[in-house]
Amino acid sequence: MNVLITGGCGFIGSNLVHHLRARRPDWTLVTLDKLTYAGNLENLAALEGDPKHIFVRGNICNRELIEHVVGLYRIEGILHLAAESHVDRSILGPEVFVQTNVLGTQVLLEVCKAIGVRRFVMVSTDEVYGSLGPTGAFTESSPLQPSSPYSASKAAADLVTLAYGRTFGLDVVVTRCSNNYGRYQFPEKLIPLMIVNALHDKPLPVYGDGGNVRDWLHVEDHCEALLGVLERGRSGEVYNIGGGAERKNLELVRGLLKLLGKSEELIRFVADRPGHDRRYAIDPSKIRKELGWKPAHTFEQGLAETVRWYVDHPTWWEHVNSGAYREYFDSQYRARLGASPG
Ligand code: NAD
Ligand code: DAU
Repeated sequence: MNVLITGGCGFIGSNLVHHLRARRPDWTLVTLDKLTYAGNLENLAALEGDPKHIFVRGNICNRELIEHVVGLYRIEGILHLAAESHVDRSILGPEVFVQTNVLGTQVLLEVCKAIGVRRFVMVSTDEVYGSLGPTGAFTESSPLQPSSPYSASKAAADLVTLAYGRTFGLDVVVTRCSNNYGRYQFPEKLIPLMIVNALHDKPLPVYGDGGNVRDWLHVEDHCEALLGVLERGRSGEVYNIGGGAERKNLELVRGLLKLLGKSEELIRFVADRPGHDRRYAIDPSKIRKELGWKPAHTFEQGLAETVRWYVDHPTWWEHVNSGAYREYFDSQYRARLGASPG
């Protein structure tokens, strides 16, 4: 099978390319990525010289390019991960989120329609469902109530994808996964940011009261679910993917500090994220029942391995600890600290 992975140099995308290479060695994999601040070609360095892996630098919004790539490599399946993915950035500047996440997705769907790609998998997020109270879990029929420009753009892309299925008969599937963790995650997201800051004895900014809950899944478990959906998911369906590992942010940050042997005094409570969803939890019974998928990693073991990976690979993340990125992060931190009620 010839598969196009969009966003294949990002966190989940690059883990997915490696996962597919290992699980389906005969497939031709084409990675298309714009290489924004979040994309890193180094993540795929191990595939250099692999005749069945092709890297194309490009923007999913460029229809001419996408048509060329899909035609040239006779693409049969698309795993669409390219996106602007960080909620805080979407609050600072929503426009690029709509451009990439909504319009970029529509360009890919148009090309699928024009050229006849066999299957399109839209990799989406549980954030489209909004926030939960203290009990219950999102099912595939939970209403869409996105809170941030990021999650709203993903919800829009999901709906456009499903509409192309119904209206034009495209074979589409949508997945909605909970928070991922693992190697290659850009250190602006909670887990790698806290690890990098703690390693440098810098403050760890916990938003609000730290009581927000996320449902964590090891990135490799997400990748295995995506392979199952590509091969065996039912056309026109939505599949929730989640690990059943709910943790309060504060509890998680304390756990990280313990693994790193650092003091809890590094924790700083800062102003909350506007529109901050209180709790996510996924009901994964549909994908379990239909595709037999279940997570292979426990959270405790996966988190310890992830911490070890960041400790062992400072060259992968050191560049974000200085220069423009560090300035951006420090200014965000100062603004949040200044606005904090505590
Ligand atoms: P990421 O930010 O690490 O990677 C995104 C990748 O997309 C980067 O390599 C970037 O260069 C590329 N990209 C951005 N704009 C592009 C464009 N216009 N054209 C081509 N490439 C472009 O994100 P991630 O955390 O790996 O998330 C991947 C996907 O999975 C996203 O669609 C996200 O919404 C979804 N998702 C993420 C999580 C999570 O916990 N990280 C959970 C559920 C779903
Ligand atoms: O649920 C899936 C989503 O998970 C994906 O769709 C997104 O692409 C991904 O970024 C992630 O979104 P979150 O907003 O949940 O992830 P983030 O790592 O930004 O934040 C996790 C929690 O930690 C959230 O409650 C906010 C809090 N947080 C985050 C940062 C960066 C802090 O308390 N301090 C921080 O510095």
